[in-house]
Amino acid sequence: MKTEYYIGNVRIKPNLILAPMAGVTDSAFRKLIKRCGGVGLIVTEFISVEGLTRNNLKTHKLMYFEQEEKPISIQFFGHNSDRMAAAAEVAEAAGADIVDINCGCPAKKVVNGGGGSSLLKDLPKMEKILRETRKAIKIPLTLKYRIGWDENSINAIEVGKMAENCGIEQLAIHGRTRMQGYSGFADWNTIAQVKQAVKIPVVGSGDVTTAEQALQRLRETDVDGVMIGRGAMANPWIFRQADELMRKITPHQPTLEEKRIFLIDYLDVMLKEMSTEKAALGKVKQLCGHFTRGLPGGAIFRNQIFHSNTVAELIDRINEYFTMIEPQESELSYAF
Ligand SMILES: Cc1cc2nc3c(=O)[nH]c(=O)nc-3n(C[C@H](O)[C@H](O)[C@H](O)COP(=O)(O)O)c2cc1C
Repeated sequence: MKTEYYIGNVRIKPNLILAPMAGVTDSAFRKLIKRCGGVGLIVTEFISVEGLTRNNLKTHKLMYFEQEEKPISIQFFGHNSDRMAAAAEVAEAAGADIVDINCGCPAKKVVNGGGGSSLLKDLPKMEKILRETRKAIKIPLTLKYRIGWDENSINAIEVGKMAENCGIEQLAIHGRTRMQGYSGFADWNTIAQVKQAVKIPVVGSGDVTTAEQALQRLRETDVDGVMIGRGAMANPWIFRQADELMRKITPHQPTLEEKRIFLIDYLDVMLKEMSTEKAALGKVKQLCGHFTRGLPGGAIFRNQIFHSNTVAELIDRINEYFTMIEPQESELSYAF
């Protein structure tokens, strides 16, 4: 089982990666996750090359990152090879370690625009984008994609080999088809087959929700790294726990107080970074939804949070909840 690897000359240690999640993995969330420990690489949420190369201010803001987040990969989506190449140049100039191209997003808006997973149905177009972008930058260029458009057109190996030929330096594969959306389960067998078919690093993504699962996937599929998305929203310490398991250390068990502080810190950073209080509250409510899954009284807490209209109310609810609940059996296991 690997515990580290290189993308070009960028060392990924440990080989545990925070998955890109639009609307979630902004700079504030990424920093808090990174501070929990065990994250070898961070990927931004996806950024439109159309918006970026047309100087849309909101899109530019999505590219913002801080030194403590490094190594960081900036992910783009789009359908136009010139604009993708130009966006990659901007990311390189901004100090990104890696540029990543999204060929996995299933959203209708993205797919109808010819980007994201729709490129899985048009490999010549995908190839043009990869080749042009590869020529435009010196830092590593990577690809994130799904295993195919639908169950009748699984082409993960073909895409992987083509991308390797274009000079792509890592494949991150979400083991679902576009048509699956987020239903069913990620197909790690196909991810493992791609790993056998190419020489560049392959990272697997999909349904890793505990530290043990991360290690199991690394062991069973021989992938170079594991990407964790929703599992990190529920448990920001999952990377640290997996890293500690790899190093044969007893995994850190976050206390209720650490969890409370994580949410309060998140609220604090959101209030500083979001343009309105309402937007900041929305973000915190979204995170609370995932964060309290499996905790006692979580459903009641989520309902209270959902109906909180002010910052003071939200802080009160969070403080009340985390001081009132008693540690349960689930709390005593690191794999909560
Ligand atoms: C809310 C949300 C937003 C996502 N946004 C992106 C994105 O911007 N770019 C991307 O490549 N994948 C995106 N994904 C997919 C994840 O990176 C990941 O591949 C997928 O969620 C499966 O992993 P998980 O089960 O660990 O969450 C998103 C997933 C979620 C749940």
